[in-house]
Amino acid sequence: MISRIAIREIFWTVVFYQLFKVERMRQLTAAVIGAGLRGDVYASYSLDHPDELKIVAVAEPDQERREAFARKYHLNKNMCFSDYKNLLQREKMADFVMICTMDRMHYEPVIMALKKGYHVLCEKPMSTNESEIVRMGTMAEKYGRILSICHVLRYSPFFTKIKELIQTGTIGELQTIQQIEEVGFWHHAHSFVRGNWRKTEEASPMILQKCCHDMDILLWLVEQNCTEIQSFGTLSYFNKENAPKGSTKYCMDGCTQRDKCPFYAPRFYLEHPRAEIDGLTHAVSVKTDRESILKALQHGPYGRCVFHCDNTVVDHQVVNIQFEKGMTASFTMSAFTNDCTRKINVMGTRGQIEGDMEKGILKTVDFVTGDTDTIELHTPVKGHSGSDSKMVADFLRQISADHSGNGRSSATSSVDSHLMALAAEKSRLENRVISLSIYKEEIAGKSR
Ligand SMILES: NC(=O)c1ccc[n+]([C@@H]2O[C@H](COP(=O)([O-])OP(=O)(O)OC[C@H]3O[C@@H](n4cnc5c(N)ncnc54)[C@H](O)[C@@H]3O)[C@@H](O)[C@H]2O)c1
Repeated sequence: MISRIAIREIFWTVVFYQLFKVERMRQLTAAVIGAGLRGDVYASYSLDHPDELKIVAVAEPDQERREAFARKYHLNKNMCFSDYKNLLQREKMADFVMICTMDRMHYEPVIMALKKGYHVLCEKPMSTNESEIVRMGTMAEKYGRILSICHVLRYSPFFTKIKELIQTGTIGELQTIQQIEEVGFWHHAHSFVRGNWRKTEEASPMILQKCCHDMDILLWLVEQNCTEIQSFGTLSYFNKENAPKGSTKYCMDGCTQRDKCPFYAPRFYLEHPRAEIDGLTHAVSVKTDRESILKALQHGPYGRCVFHCDNTVVDHQVVNIQFEKGMTASFTMSAFTNDCTRKINVMGTRGQIEGDMEKGILKTVDFVTGDTDTIELHTPVKGHSGSDSKMVADFLRQISADHSGNGRSSATSSVDSHLMALAAEKSRLENRVISLSIYKEEIAGKSR
């Protein structure tokens, strides 16, 4: 017979272990690969929620960045590595890794990390190569790990609300969507003319790099497979042919056009509100005081004349999409806008939703009653309207639930949206409509 005291002891032991387990699961540990802008954005979740996440290691070749990151996240010296290979060759040292290296450096660390038993939060694009994209999805399944892609827009209050309105039948049956990605003339100049993503050959095509988010959102809203895709687009403006007389290779080398040019670098980095808010000044210089910025712009990459760079990505592109069951979508990306936002027009059989993400406004109309509604979403200006931290929270929830939670941006759904983007690029380059089923068969053929 077990005594009452023994039963009580067993009871409290079970309670203790349950609590301990919950407590232990609550604070997950992460190693960050690539301590650049994005690496820091996601890692900073640990500073706001120290009970949920602790950063324990970093791999970053840039010494200044690595040391600054180590100081900020209180890392031991022996947990700081100059390359992802050194980190991933060691014994598993965290619950998951965040892979925040540049576009063409995601595939190898993802595969190494999955094989080591890490869950992985990986920046988009997964890869620029179709076969690698498909393989990343299958490897996550094979090793039973969570591989989540940073499709942060799925977590934005803006698109979450649109999804809810569609699902609750507010506009009847969805028929077609028109979406515009207004990149912003300043953002385009920073990232896609002067910056890291200016060359398709080194980074990725614009439609994959910037707009895989849009392909992903369209797939998520429509909930149908894409069957055919067609695209046009060019790099028409940011090239030598359009350099005005009197322009110099660097803005600060006595350009006579500086007062007339929207792209004069010092004006943007020192005066434009988004330069600081979006962390673009940090890309120019680790120190962001006026003097350091001007010094970095003098003859640095971000001080180059936008007409004298070596950029190759398009500055405007359109995509037409056919989904199964007859739904359609059209998408436009343009550098030539003042705002950096996404605008959408969702058209259903009974109503319509129009929205501007940056303004945080959605307008609905009901065709039967004529009723209109304006929904104002009070969203933070930073971190993709607060989506970045929501995405990290969702990822932690998935890991804590040990696979049972199905996150919004799983590798499986991301594979499809990435293939849509690459098929659109193929269409643009080959000037023909691409059938997604034939495209996928070709990829499978290459992998066999
Ligand atoms: N989800 C989004 O909305 C979003 C937004 C912006 C950028 N991105 C993507 O995030 C990724 C990173 O962008 P970023 O702006 O942070 O770039 P970044 O250049 O600021 O950061 C990349 C970092 O990787 C480091 N790195 C290079 N080689 C390495 C190696 N061998 N091992 C470890 N680290 C290495 C670099 O030194 C750099 O610090 C890109 O693929 C980009 O497309 C996603």
